[in-house]
Amino acid sequence: MMRSSDQQVLRKATPVEQGNPADDQRMFRRCLSQYGTGVAIVTTADGASRFAVTVNSFSSLSLDPPLLLWSIDRKSRSFDAFSSCEHFAVNILSSEQIELSRHFSSKITDKFADVDWAPGRFGSPLLSGCIARFECSAEARHDGGDHMILIGRVQQLERFEGMPLIFSQGQYSIPLEHPDAPGEPAAIAAEQPNTLANNVLQMIFNAHHALSEAFDEHRRAEGVSIAVARVLATVHGHPGIKVDAVAGQTYLGQRDAEDAVAELAQKSLLVHSVDGGLRLTPSGAALRESIGERWLAFQNAQLESIPPADISVLMRTLKRLIEQTTQERTATEAVSGE
Ligand SMILES: Cc1cc2nc3c(=O)[nH]c(=O)nc-3n(C[C@H](O)[C@H](O)[C@H](O)COP(=O)(O)O)c2cc1C
Repeated sequence: MMRSSDQQVLRKATPVEQGNPADDQRMFRRCLSQYGTGVAIVTTADGASRFAVTVNSFSSLSLDPPLLLWSIDRKSRSFDAFSSCEHFAVNILSSEQIELSRHFSSKITDKFADVDWAPGRFGSPLLSGCIARFECSAEARHDGGDHMILIGRVQQLERFEGMPLIFSQGQYSIPLEHPDAPGEPAAIAAEQPNTLANNVLQMIFNAHHALSEAFDEHRRAEGVSIAVARVLATVHGHPGIKVDAVAGQTYLGQRDAEDAVAELAQKSLLVHSVDGGLRLTPSGAALRESIGERWLAFQNAQLESIPPADISVLMRTLKRLIEQTTQERTATEAVSGE
């Protein structure tokens, strides 16, 4: 239900732009793009020739009979094929198929070369990796200005696991559960706000701990402890860093940090420069690089089964947490330093 404060905001809000779309087509497009959609690739075949366009004009139309619709630009090279075809297929893209969307919206000559597809029951190409596919008979066509509207009667459908690719405000995005929407996992978080198992920071800590422990076999293979590996990475990233600062950067205790520095110096992997700063020797740098390569390979293996869309949300969230916390800390330090 709308609160009166929301209504006031609506009344007071000044449009970013407004006017007659006939005067400014770009403005019209921008306004339309405020409506987020999915992305689909519609395909058809005519003998040995195949046609396909990326579309976001796709929409559900009727459940009984099962109808859907989309529209095609009259300037499309596939226009003639779609104006006369008896069947077409709508392939709904997953959040991992941005490249496929770009590919089929491009002007390349053979859109099907190097693409994984197979003909459906009525001959229209069905693309692999989609989250739903509808095989349709062409039910009706209507004039739609510079586009033609096609209505399809769904004869056969398939649904697969996966998240949809979203197109809104002129760019691709991925669906994120709204924090205010009831459902998993936001609702669970709201119901059990204080349990440790459901505590976000605790989970970040647990994940870090579990990964670090799993990586230990690789550190051992290089003959280094976790403390030594952290000091190596820190001195690599901050050449010239003073011993006192190493503990803070590595999240190690002062004594552990000093012990690790001493061990690295004793193995000639690190030197104390005349200015008191620490620097890696060539063999220290080589060891650091070798651990870094192992870390990358380890990371790739760990993330292999996680959808890229989930990884990018995780990265974005962690980045924001780090930035915001660092800013807050810097601000507090500035105030207390006055
Ligand atoms: C996200 C997105 C949505 C699109 N939606 C449509 C659409 O609904 N209808 C259409 O005709 N073209 C649409 N296009 C443009 C076509 O994909 C593109 O013009 C066409 O594939 C160009 O190749 P063609 O000349 O071989 O058809 C869209 C493009 C993108 C990237």
